[in-house]
Amino acid sequence: MDARFIIGAVRPEQFPPEELPEIAFLGRSNVGKSSLLNRLVRADRLARISSTPGCTQSINFYRVDDRMCFVDLPGYGFTKIPPSARQRWESLIESYLSGRATLRYCLLLVDARRGWMENDLELRRWLEFHGRRYLVIATKFDKLKNRQKQSEGLAAISRAGEGVDPIPFSAVTGQGVREIWQTISRIHKTA
Ligand code: GTP
Ligand code: MG
Repeated sequence: MDARFIIGAVRPEQFPPEELPEIAFLGRSNVGKSSLLNRLVRADRLARISSTPGCTQSINFYRVDDRMCFVDLPGYGFTKIPPSARQRWESLIESYLSGRATLRYCLLLVDARRGWMENDLELRRWLEFHGRRYLVIATKFDKLKNRQKQSEGLAAISRAGEGVDPIPFSAVTGQGVREIWQTISRIHKTA
């Protein structure tokens, strides 16, 4: 699989031309967006991963096999940034999500242990309102140590997400990679 970084956009004018179908990675800061992206393309260091929240500050576009683009968005919910910077991010993200014609699918990542936070739910409602298709992914699933915790975690996410079933994913074990690819490929074909 060939995956290349195209650009890290901090302004809408820097978005690349609308050509290939795009898959966006959305979720709170530190939830594991960049780790998921790397795992899907089997590259360890393509998207930068950090234990410091707020690591990804631009909208990063990656071209995958010349047939689609992965778009890694800055995480939200990170409190230690000044309001002016936050406002800039929010309008950047919103301009991408509302206006992008080639955006086919959003991957909405939720931490399997924590479930939905208020800003995740807000984003989900926003996606629904704008008619954006999305898939909910329960990240860091390896951290739920036994079956009971795992099924409780998934049930809680499904309940609060109005019955949308999450796909369990772990960047450590690779659980969920196949299922996520299956969904992405299906969308790619029907779009
Ligand atoms: P921002 O760019 O700040 O929004 O963060 P992000 O959502 O891109 O998260 P990132 O992929 O950088 O991961 C954040 C931290 O969580 C890193 O320390 C990762 O190693 C860790 N992490 C990510 N996914 C997993 C996972 O599936 N399991 C475990 N155990 N740790 C994970
Ligand atoms: Mg990131």
